[in-house]
Amino acid sequence: MFHWLEKNPFFFAVGVFVVIAYAGLIEILPNFAEAARPVKGLKPYTVLQLAGKEVYKKDNCIACHSQLIRPFKSETDRYGQYSLSGEYAYDRPFLWGSKRTGPDLHRIGNYRTADWHANHMWNPKSVVPDSIMPAYKHQYTNAADLETAYAEAVTVKKVFGTPYGDDIAPGKAAYEKELKTKILPEALKIAKATKREDLVKAVESGKVPEVVALIAYLNRLK
Ligand code: HEC
Repeated sequence: MFHWLEKNPFFFAVGVFVVIAYAGLIEILPNFAEAARPVKGLKPYTVLQLAGKEVYKKDNCIACHSQLIRPFKSETDRYGQYSLSGEYAYDRPFLWGSKRTGPDLHRIGNYRTADWHANHMWNPKSVVPDSIMPAYKHQYTNAADLETAYAEAVTVKKVFGTPYGDDIAPGKAAYEKELKTKILPEALKIAKATKREDLVKAVESGKVPEVVALIAYLNRLK
């Protein structure tokens, strides 16, 4: 019945493509069903965490770190539960990465603390003697771009319907309010947990160092 197909390379190639694409879709599509995305209990990133995600992108952590734990025993033993597509529902863009010079970071929030990160980002060798990770000292003096992160939250709420509350609204006044009532208190908590006086002082003066936002983001990965 299909002899004509076997003799016709073009239609045969189309047929092969359709079969493979169909199998691929069957595998992938269920993950995008409403019930699977986002996973239960997942909250949108806070503005401080979004600012930290920007630092992660800007300083190119993705060049050496993935954020995707594959469903193999060797990976789940080391990092924990394998990653589910619904966990990335609020990631725009997702930061899966494809290179692991360093370990995967998708569940780093489960086993590293703010003070550990603060020591590690300042000088990786101080906590991991053989580390080849570069130091990121500029993150301790550069201020995180909170205003842009806030604008990002406003935008994804409007465009994608990301479930932020009424507090996230356009305008300078709404931003100032969020800054005072949410962003700075969250940053202060993290700065205190790093046990670094300079970071606490900076946040108290209203300037959030990049490393504080970055740690907020890393703590959220779990
Ligand atoms: C040149 C490659 C490289 C880059 C770029 C890099 N790292 Fe790393 N990272 C490593 C290596 C190698 C390790 C393992 C040794 C160590 O813990 O220091 C590591 C370890 C880590 C760990 C500890 C992981 C664990 O399970 O203990 C964290 C957290 C981390 N990196 C965060 C970052 C962040 C955030 C950035 C971007 C600001 C970054 N890294 C950029 C190579 C890199």
